[in-house]
Amino acid sequence: MTAELHQSINNAAFVTPECERVFIDFLYEKLGLVIKSHQLKSLHDGIDKGCRQFGHLRWQDYFEALKQSDSTSSEMEQLIAAVTIGESYFFRDQNQIAWLRDIWLPQIIEQRRSKGEKYLRIWSAGCSSGQELYTMAILLAEALPDLGEWKIHLMGTDINAAVLSRALHGHYSSWSFRATPEAVRDRYFFSQEYGYTINDNLRQMPLFTFLNLADDEYPSILTQTNAMDLILCRNVFIYFDKRVVNMVMHRFSRSLLPGGVLMLGASDLVASGMDSLRLVQHGNIFYYHNSIKEENHTTPIPSKKHTSDRRKIRHVSAEPAQPVIDDTLHEMLHGGRWHEALSHIEVAIKQQGKTAPLLQHKAKVMANLGDLQAAKALCEESLGLDPLDMHTYFLKAMVLIELGDDQGAESSLRKTIYLEPCFVESHFQLGLLLIRCERVAAGKKALHNALRLARSAPPEGELHHAAGMTFKRFVEILEHEMEIYAGEFN
Ligand SMILES: C[S@@+](CC[C@H](N)C(=O)[O-])C[C@H]1O[C@@H](n2cnc3c(N)ncnc32)[C@H](O)[C@@H]1O
Repeated sequence: MTAELHQSINNAAFVTPECERVFIDFLYEKLGLVIKSHQLKSLHDGIDKGCRQFGHLRWQDYFEALKQSDSTSSEMEQLIAAVTIGESYFFRDQNQIAWLRDIWLPQIIEQRRSKGEKYLRIWSAGCSSGQELYTMAILLAEALPDLGEWKIHLMGTDINAAVLSRALHGHYSSWSFRATPEAVRDRYFFSQEYGYTINDNLRQMPLFTFLNLADDEYPSILTQTNAMDLILCRNVFIYFDKRVVNMVMHRFSRSLLPGGVLMLGASDLVASGMDSLRLVQHGNIFYYHNSIKEENHTTPIPSKKHTSDRRKIRHVSAEPAQPVIDDTLHEMLHGGRWHEALSHIEVAIKQQGKTAPLLQHKAKVMANLGDLQAAKALCEESLGLDPLDMHTYFLKAMVLIELGDDQGAESSLRKTIYLEPCFVESHFQLGLLLIRCERVAAGKKALHNALRLARSAPPEGELHHAAGMTFKRFVEILEHEMEIYAGEFN
């Protein structure tokens, strides 16, 4: 279709009320996104642009193409980008930043130091182009003279691949610095091409990755969304309705460590009394505190992808030395009820003695509770009993990544691949690890291997280490992941 022909179509008539309704329902069902009245213009523009770009004369044809495609298709990405305009800037919301800088950070740093522990885990959920997470990186750099000795896990996730790519490159226009003191900007950024680029030390701190808060499974050790000290999810709930907000809050409560903090945007507050999340007011800011106790851990979220019949679950891998777990323990692990699962495992150990599978599960629980050293020791004990269990090597690798032992993690991942060359999750994690260690070509190869294996797996089969994640969904995530790193691959 020629541009002239398309231009002749009157835009207002093109997006009819029926078209609007169809797209609004579609975005909600597929992505959990709620289109509010102020976003209608962006939606109309997105539909119009999508039709032009992909050569559809009628909105119905564009809609059909979207229905057939997955969330990584160009058609879908174009539409997502149109309706999720991720405005963000550094040091946004001075009151919250002041509380994080002056109260939360000094307290948690002191707490960790007093226990001889130097780790922190922070997640910016709906991170847009990374300004929120880099602001946290700057606060940490200012607060920790011994930053190099700390294991800092800074994780940024978003549904929009284009903004994630921008976050990875770390280049911003001066408008992003409207709330940043000049001295801070000049300390951490250098001026380049009509804007500023973040310096390499800071740029290497965060991990940016694709995650749909309304749909994907979390917490999960696979996506490293577990055992968080702080979750920032500011100005994201505007895209969701009450049902999705409740679901997201429920999952956040499980992603947080006991004592962890969730911070929403100033206008995003939702009713407290949700699971273990207690709404706390401090001066003019609010946050949620995860006041979880062993006895009253959360109930599991029924997952639409969850099946209680583990026999239905298939993996790409050859038959692993897979632990047989009873349904109760499975439900506890799947629901993230870590303390309950721990008691259950301890009773089982008393009754049956230490077995490799029980120790492996205990390691997983300890990792999710943030006790990485105990998790590592338990993996080793389990491997002492069963040195051929690739799942224990995998778990150990994930724990070592979090402990900052990249070499140990690589060696553990390679062992799993040696034991089972088709172990998708291992190729995936190896790829991410190698890219982080700047071995881009080898990392790219590992990600390609993961994608090839995941594509050949039964689409509705589930991954072993990410409860509820199907291979179909994993393929989409991998495709996004490779797109985010596309620049790095050239
Ligand atoms: C207004 S920006 C907020 C950025 C940052 N948190 C801040 O406050 O400065 C909202 C971001 O949420 C993202 N988003 C919307 N729906 C999402 C979803 N279902 N899952 C993950 N991110 C989502 C958008 O793509 C956008 O980048």
